[in-house]
Amino acid sequence: MQLGDPMNEKTTRQSGIALVIGAGGGLGAALVERLAQSGDSVGAYQAVLSLGRSTHPPLDYGDEASVLAASRWVAARCADLQGELRLLVVASGFLHGETGQPERSWTQLDADYLSQVFRINAIGPALVMKHFLPLFPKHGRCVAGFVSAKVGSIGDNALGGWYGYRASKAALNQLVKTASIELGRYNRQAICVSLHPGTVDTALSRPFAKTGLTVRPAPEAAENLLDVLAALTLADTGALIDYQGHRLPW
Ligand SMILES: NC(=O)c1ccc[n+]([C@@H]2O[C@H](COP(=O)([O-])OP(=O)(O)OC[C@H]3O[C@@H](n4cnc5c(N)ncnc54)[C@H](OP(=O)(O)O)[C@@H]3O)[C@@H](O)[C@H]2O)c1
Repeated sequence: MQLGDPMNEKTTRQSGIALVIGAGGGLGAALVERLAQSGDSVGAYQAVLSLGRSTHPPLDYGDEASVLAASRWVAARCADLQGELRLLVVASGFLHGETGQPERSWTQLDADYLSQVFRINAIGPALVMKHFLPLFPKHGRCVAGFVSAKVGSIGDNALGGWYGYRASKAALNQLVKTASIELGRYNRQAICVSLHPGTVDTALSRPFAKTGLTVRPAPEAAENLLDVLAALTLADTGALIDYQGHRLPW
């Protein structure tokens, strides 16, 4: 058995391969760590692969060729490990950075910030669907979880603000719903969902953590999401589901 770059591959004796995209983020790193800790326990995976802008190969949503190259690397690792991709978790996302901050008012709407937030929260995951969902086997349980956010729920929007982030996550939810239908035709036992992780202590949320808000550590949030993913049934495919397993409104 050929082992890949130890930086982004951990192996056990179980069958099935898990992949985390956005592995350099607070939640993504905790997901990789938690999956790797499962070791040889029931529900564990034989290998946990991780991808992000800093891995080898790198995966950057600003460059579709890198997404394609990363998908080919995963296909090759699955072949080498004689395992099938059974879990895909996409934990990438963007709220604030050099291009801007979430808007409090329509007066702050900015084309560059909107492009960036849509690029990372919606277009990037769409490219992941294009290049990675076909790596799932055509038979047997497979689960794809795209980390979204409750603020992307249109039905739940009572406060306003955060135009770009909300809209980009709503777009992601529609992409996930649409992909879940196509994925169900490809493999009748495959499940594809959007996930709300709750407020998690990461670089993304830290500037906005308010007193009174329940902020959970990333390892706890990762464990919650993996429990939710393990308990999903076919009836859940296409839904937006929170870290407690509750379905949220669109
Ligand atoms: N933290 C919260 O309270 C909270 C609440 C609700 C929803 N969420 C969602 O949870 C997910 C994880 O966020 P986090 O809190 O872990 O934030 P984070 O620590 O800031 O992580 C951001 C992630 O986005 C990835 N990313 C950024 N730009 C990218 C690009 N151009 N191409 C590819 N990947 C890119 C990074 O991957 P690499 O660094 O590996 O490239 C990193 O994994 C996001 O979808 C976020 O919207 C978080």
